[in-house]
Amino acid sequence: MPKNIIIFFGPPGSGKGTQAELLARKTGLPTGQAGWKKISTGDLLRAEIAAKTTLGKNVEKYLKTGKLVPDQMTIKLMENSLKQKAAGFIFDGFPRNSRQLKALLAILESLLKKNDQVRAIEVAVSDKEVKERLGLRRMCACGAVYHLKYNPPIAEGICDICHQELFTRNDDKPKVIAHRLKVYHQDGKPLLDYWQKQGKLIKINGEQPIKKIHEEIVEKLRGLKVI
Ligand code: AP5
Repeated sequence: MPKNIIIFFGPPGSGKGTQAELLARKTGLPTGQAGWKKISTGDLLRAEIAAKTTLGKNVEKYLKTGKLVPDQMTIKLMENSLKQKAAGFIFDGFPRNSRQLKALLAILESLLKKNDQVRAIEVAVSDKEVKERLGLRRMCACGAVYHLKYNPPIAEGICDICHQELFTRNDDKPKVIAHRLKVYHQDGKPLLDYWQKQGKLIKINGEQPIKKIHEEIVEKLRGLKVI
């Protein structure tokens, strides 16, 4: 079975987490079998913060202010996650700059076989749309993402999937959002250029309904025989 890699890329609030989660549910297999695994560096870091681990204490200040966590920390997280048994991996939020890209490519060189594929999906959304979306986002610790207007939970404040209480991210504040967007535009461009040059970039209009975007992604990935 090929071990393919799908990388979601886009500005904060573009919906990459939402789409990565939907795709993971679609490609996942029943427990016990090695299905696809989703790796979200943001979720992993937030889990460390919530568990008050040493790593969590060290990274909290970066997430609070919208700065990128030092590369060695996210590269280590990614490296450890890639050790899991899986049919393929879905990355959400990694790599985010040229150093992380270089580290990922080096690891994949030894992990992937000749016919395995790597594809990057750019979820393209304007800065204006990002600012409108993030104020009404609600999250669950299980990875599910909601929006009070566009994708509300069935019961107010409760996750449809695992029934835990939803929370608001503390980096969803106007000043921090502006900084996250600045970092994205500065560090992200070389990555998009790289995937484009490699012929591995799938560009998706992220300003469409969630379901429509998901269907478009699935169709494109199936067409390329990635899933
Ligand atoms: P991370 O958690 O990755 O945040 P981000 O990249 O800023 O992206 P978001 O999670 O905010 O948005 P998203 O694109 O996933 O959108 P979502 O699906 O939630 O990273 C957080 C922090 O961790 C970073 O700032 C950094 O400090 C650190 N970090 C993480 N990775 C790192 C790395 N590799 N290196 C260094 N540091 C790292 O959707 C947003 C909202 O819109 C939701 O409410 C959703 O319901 C709604 N929505 C989604 N799609 C649609 C649609 N089509 N129409 C309408 N609404 C929609």
